Amino acid sequence: MGNVKLSVIYYSSTGTIAEIANALVAEAENAGAEVRLRKAPELAPDAAIDANPAWRANVEATSSVPEATPEDVVWADAVLFGSPTRFGNVSSQLKQFIDGLGGQWQQGLLADKVYSGFTASATKHGGQESTLLALYNTIHHFGGIIVIPGFTDATKFADGNPYGTSHVDGQGQFKVDDETRTAAAVQARRVVGVAQALKAGAQR
Ligand SMILES: Cc1cc2nc3c(=O)[nH]c(=O)nc-3n(C[C@H](O)[C@H](O)[C@H](O)COP(=O)(O)O)c2cc1C
Repeated sequence: MGNVKLSVIYYSSTGTIAEIANALVAEAENAGAEVRLRKAPELAPDAAIDANPAWRANVEATSSVPEATPEDVVWADAVLFGSPTRFGNVSSQLKQFIDGLGGQWQQGLLADKVYSGFTASATKHGGQESTLLALYNTIHHFGGIIVIPGFTDATKFADGNPYGTSHVDGQGQFKVDDETRTAAAVQARRVVGVAQALKAGAQR
């Protein structure tokens, strides 16, 4: 049957989402998945990036992460999309990548896969849920299977976000911590587990 193929496709300006993406990759690999880590291409001009040292540092730290292509979605049995909250919504960089999937959508190549999302915001009520729900609107159009963590693990009552892994970064003050890493581990295991079960069912 082969291992579950998982693409983790994210956008991150200042590194919070990149850090969560790495945690998801590590746990998904532990769970036996073959994983591709990909970043959405940057859209911002260099002048904007250079105005924020944390942004420039993250661009450099992630320079070896390949940019996502539509084939990374088509290849996968499961896709984890990650984006920082932007005014309670998905970042334009990740959205631009998603909006480039029209051809694959038209051919039915995005359907029947597992999808799940992760996010981060500066503040606690800054729009994490609305960002994830906005992301999940798109998955309905794909005919995808949204697999969310819910409160399926006792640890979810600590981070409290059933919609997906999320982190409050206080605009860079609060680094990704054990609570967020635990949430990422729960989400990665659940996504890989459900994708595995679907794959096994499809073989019968
Ligand atoms: C244009 C812009 C809009 C943002 N909108 C919000 C927001 O609505 N709510 C919030 O709490 N944080 C907001 N933030 C903060 C980021 O979402 C937050 O710092 C996030 O953790 C950054 O992730 P990254 O380090 O992966 O780029 C915004 C940041 C920018 C630059």
